[in-house]
Amino acid sequence: MGKIKAAITGVSGYVPEDIMTNFDLEKLVETNDEWIVSRTGIKQRHILKDPKKAMSDLGVEAVNKLLAKTGTKPEEIDMLIVGTITGDYVFPDTANLISHKIGAKNAFGFDINAACSGFIYSLMVGAKFVESGSHKKVIIVGGDKMSSILNYEDRATCILFGDGAGAVLLEPSEDGNGIQNAILKSDGSGSEYLYMKAGGSLNPPTAETVANREHFVTQDGRIVFKAAIKGMSESIRDLMEKNNLTQEDIDWVIPHQANNRIITAVGDQVGFPSEKVLVNIHNYGNTTAGTIPLVLSDFEDKFKKGDKIILTAFGGGFTWGSILLHWAY
Ligand SMILES: CC(C)(COP(=O)(O)OP(=O)(O)OC[C@H]1O[C@@H](n2cnc3c(N)ncnc32)[C@H](O)[C@@H]1OP(=O)(O)O)[C@@H](O)C(=O)NCCC(=O)NCCS
Repeated sequence: MGKIKAAITGVSGYVPEDIMTNFDLEKLVETNDEWIVSRTGIKQRHILKDPKKAMSDLGVEAVNKLLAKTGTKPEEIDMLIVGTITGDYVFPDTANLISHKIGAKNAFGFDINAACSGFIYSLMVGAKFVESGSHKKVIIVGGDKMSSILNYEDRATCILFGDGAGAVLLEPSEDGNGIQNAILKSDGSGSEYLYMKAGGSLNPPTAETVANREHFVTQDGRIVFKAAIKGMSESIRDLMEKNNLTQEDIDWVIPHQANNRIITAVGDQVGFPSEKVLVNIHNYGNTTAGTIPLVLSDFEDKFKKGDKIILTAFGGGFTWGSILLHWAY
């Protein structure tokens, strides 16, 4: 019997109904559709408008779709991990809320805070539980309600992000397909370039932090832009080298969708033809931990069993890395 691998055996995505176009943003901040499309590739993003709904509701929609698609009963789930930075509360974890809402009463779980790398970090943690043989049906959710932490007076950040979530089912595989290998990295010296200033234990919420609009995403776009290209490109190259693979061996590259110029630069630097690099940023913007499962879900029909796929992400922290997997169905 071969070594057990963790394989993705189903994917799903969910974005809320309401759409915010670049033209809608023109009414809020000094910007225009041409600037946003040419600098980022984004044409629209979906926004969860219902003030009573939160990240767990995005997750519930994605997971319920996944359960229906894969014929999985909620009680069969052993573990549920959520990559997010916009959990419903500081505590408890959104994983607990989602498990409760869907009736996954045998699942334990927790959230992973790795910003835009939240999904790939969570996927690797879940994979280790499956590989060890201790857990058989593990759900990984990645998603964010970014509209809850965006300053719609700051044109440099509010145009970039949207709301959405995706989910995958991980199960044991013995035919060699599944997650092969990963390179995951983090570097806290980048923390000040992409973060939320207040709301944590350093700067708890006060009337002053609210007045100063410190509960929103703050970033130095140019530094993040360069670091993202470097981090994703280097981790893809290192991963290919570690696995003796060349660009020709890889069928698909699924990058975190932060900016189409970042995606194009990574593809060019590593030497992938654009047809292999999957992009859906024009429809959703950057949904942070949601982007990679949303790409998996949108392009699922293209994948064939055995296809070699690289997932790559970069985000606040800084956090970044790449995962190599062989598609299992
Ligand atoms: C934010 C980002 C799109 C800005 O694009 P850029 O080409 O770097 O633009 P700059 O920041 O150099 O700004 C260029 C000009 O456009 C202006 N500008 C910024 N946002 C604008 C907007 N929405 N509309 C119109 N003009 C805008 C700037 O004020 C600046 O004007 P100035 O030259 O008069 O000062 C880009 O830096 C980026 O995508 N960074 C990565 C961010 C990211 O993806 N973070 C998520 C985590 S991975």
